[in-house]
Amino acid sequence: MTAIHTVSLLLNGTKHPSLRRSQRGAEVLCSPTNSLTGHTFRESASPSLFPSSRWVPGLRWVFVVTPTYRRVTQRLDLTRLFNTFALFANVHVIVVEDSLNRTAKVDNILGSSLLLHWSHRYIKSSRRLKVRGSEQRNEGIRAIREIVFGEADAELRNAYEDAVVYFADDDNAYDVRILDELRKVRNVGTWPVALSGRKIAERCEVDTSTGRIKGYNSALKWRPYPIDTAGYGLHVRYFLKHEPPLMFNPLSKIYHLESDFLKMTNISKYDFEPLADNCTKVYTWHVSSDIKWGRKKPPLDFDVELDI
Ligand SMILES: *[C@@H]1O[C@H](CO)[C@@H](O)[C@H](O)[C@H]1NC(C)=O
Repeated sequence: MTAIHTVSLLLNGTKHPSLRRSQRGAEVLCSPTNSLTGHTFRESASPSLFPSSRWVPGLRWVFVVTPTYRRVTQRLDLTRLFNTFALFANVHVIVVEDSLNRTAKVDNILGSSLLLHWSHRYIKSSRRLKVRGSEQRNEGIRAIREIVFGEADAELRNAYEDAVVYFADDDNAYDVRILDELRKVRNVGTWPVALSGRKIAERCEVDTSTGRIKGYNSALKWRPYPIDTAGYGLHVRYFLKHEPPLMFNPLSKIYHLESDFLKMTNISKYDFEPLADNCTKVYTWHVSSDIKWGRKKPPLDFDVELDI
């Protein structure tokens, strides 16, 4: 078991109110496991750490931005997603609903999850957009800027400024090791996404003599950056100090959203960092939960009487 995993289990334990004994703002030592990990937990009065005030100094923060919308599999997908990202310390999940308000449904799913740090935002998609999710991801980026720039705790703010940002769609499946890869990202890191683009995996190909990316195995190879949303992570500085801060273009043409976005980094796709053992390991799968309704559609009021 790695140190990170040990810490994660511990932190989940600390979510239980009876285990939150220390004073806010005080440094907390958790024995006996702390002697195993060498990690020290801190508590901070920062509102950005809602719902828990705990974090681990020295462990990179990861901001996970997840757009979501109402459908019969929404709770199923969000439950699986939160179950994965709740296993880690220093992960802040920003859920952005495509809706006119914050729904009680998503609020309840978040509230009953084991996530330590999350934000819940919403923005209704403009009409007739070709590509869904871009305005929600941009709202997630605005949330990150608010969290980082609004942070009064200097140590926490420093830690945030070295964070990694991941755009994790709500219906993918994630191996826990994706977090280890995210935390290695210096500028832009990339890794395989399985079952994406009618391929077993879309992924980078590494030149074994140089260790650099020499190409991408993907559907629609003509895309300037032929990478799935789940296949890259970026340093948070692209959203803080970069001028202008990276944003998705809601008017991007279909299949061009990622390329238009990644182009703004001014980094060649060959200079991205090949992660997940030189893009040979799959830690994320592009899946769409399907329900067996044949040609029928589930009723729109599917969750009025049943919390599904
Ligand atoms: C990736 O490939 C480079 C070049 O062949 C090699 O030096 C390096 O050890 C590889 N990294 C991993 C994690 O396999």
